Amino acid sequence: MEHFAVVQSIIKAALTGDEAAVRKQVSRLEARLRKSGANKEVATLERLLNASSEAKDLVPSQVEISRALITGETLTPEVHPPIDRETGAMLCLIDFPNGETPKPVYGRAAQETIEGLLGEWRNGGALQAIGVEPTRSLLVYGPPGTGKTLTAHYIAEQLGLPMVTARIDGLISSFLGTTARNIANLFDFANRYACVLLLDEFDALAKLRDDPHEIGEIKRVVNTLLQNLDRRRAFGITIAITNHDGLLDPAVWRRFETQLFIGEPENVAREALIIRFLEPIIVDKATVRVFSYCLPGRSGADLERICRSVKRSVVMASEEPDASALFKALSQVLGRMPKLDHAPARILAEDHQAFVSLIANDPDIGLDQTEIGRATGTTQSRVSTLKKERRHVDLMERINAQ
Ligand SMILES: Nc1ncnc2c1ncn2[C@@H]1O[C@H](COP(=O)(O)OP(=O)(O)OP(=O)(O)O)[C@@H](O)[C@H]1O
Ligand SMILES: [Mg+2]
Repeated sequence: MEHFAVVQSIIKAALTGDEAAVRKQVSRLEARLRKSGANKEVATLERLLNASSEAKDLVPSQVEISRALITGETLTPEVHPPIDRETGAMLCLIDFPNGETPKPVYGRAAQETIEGLLGEWRNGGALQAIGVEPTRSLLVYGPPGTGKTLTAHYIAEQLGLPMVTARIDGLISSFLGTTARNIANLFDFANRYACVLLLDEFDALAKLRDDPHEIGEIKRVVNTLLQNLDRRRAFGITIAITNHDGLLDPAVWRRFETQLFIGEPENVAREALIIRFLEPIIVDKATVRVFSYCLPGRSGADLERICRSVKRSVVMASEEPDASALFKALSQVLGRMPKLDHAPARILAEDHQAFVSLIANDPDIGLDQTEIGRATGTTQSRVSTLKKERRHVDLMERINAQ
C-alpha cells in the first residue's frame, strides 16, 4: 500500500497520545498525497485537522480558584436580586455557569490578556504569597458585535462563578438621589456573594453627563460609582464594557487595572470564526479563505449572521453543502446585503467569473489555481483562462469610481 510507512507513523504517534507528533505525521501524509495529485484527500485531511482544533477550542478547562481570593456567600437561584425601591425594577440579572459559553476567538493581544488574567487566577495563591492579587477589574471596549459580552461570560464561566449583570436602565432612576442609592445597593449585593460583577453598556451611566439639568446628580452618581469600584477591590471581580470609551470619565477609566480593546477580527481569527460559524458543515482551507477575503472588517457577530444566512441559502437551494454550493450561497448572501462597500465582495455578488479572475490574480489570498477551482466550482483550465482574461478589472474600476 502506498504511503503505508506514514500511516504507520501516524498510528504510532496516536497510540502514545502525542498530538503534535500526530499532526506532524499527518502533514507528511498531506505533502505526499499532494505530490501524487490526490487533492480531494488532501482537502479531507485539512478539514479533519481544522475541525479537531476547533472542537478543542470549544472545550474550556475551568480554572480552580482559591476561596481565599473570592469571598462571600454562595449565590443560588433562590436569591432575589436587589430592586429599585420606587419602581420595583430589578437592578441586575444573575447567570450561573452552565458550561455552554464558547471560547471567544480574537487576535493575539486580546487572547494574551484574557489567558493572562485567567492564569493569574490559576496561580492566585502564589501571587498572594508575595503580596499581590490577581487582576480584579477589567474594562473591555471596542466596536459592536466583537465578543465583549461573550468575553465576560467566558471569564465568569472559566472561574466557575455566577455573573451578576447590572441592568443599567434599572439603575438609572428619574428620582433625585435614587441612582446613587441603586448603585450602592447593587455593589453591596455583588460584594456579599462570590460572583463576577458585570457592568455592561457602562457608558450609559457616563452619558447622563450630557444633560445640563443633571450636573449635581451626575456628580453624585460618578462619586458613588468611584467609591464603590474602590470598595469592590477587596471582594470579587468586576468587568465593565463599553462601545464608547471616549465617553467614560477618566477617573472611572483609571479604576480598572486592565483595559482591553477588542476590535474586528484579523485574518487568522476571522478564519477561525468562519469555520466555527459554518459548522456543522466542514469546510476546507480554500473555502474559508474565499469567505475571509470577502469579509474583512466584519465583526464576529456579522460573520455569525452571514454564515447563518449562507447555510440557510444552501439548504433552501437543496444543494449538498460542498464548496461550490457554499460559494454560490455566499455570492447570493452578499448580493442581498445593503451598503456592500468592500470591492471583492461586490465583485463576487455581481459576477462569479470576474471574482475567480480577481483571486487568481491576487497572491495575497494565498491559493493556487487548483484550490481556487475547488473553492469556486470551476475547472482548473477555466481558472487559468479567467486569470489571463483579467475579467475583474473593468468591474473593479466601475466599483471604485462609484
Ligand atoms: N470574538 C468572538 N469570538 C467568538 N464569537 C464571537 C466573537 N465576536 C462575536 N461573536 C459572536 O457574536 C455574538 C455577539 O457578541 P457579543 O454580544 O459578545 O458582542 P459585543 O461586543 O458585546 O457587542 P455589543 O457592543 O453590540 O454589545 C456572540 O454571542 C458570538 O456568537
Ligand atoms: Mg455586548
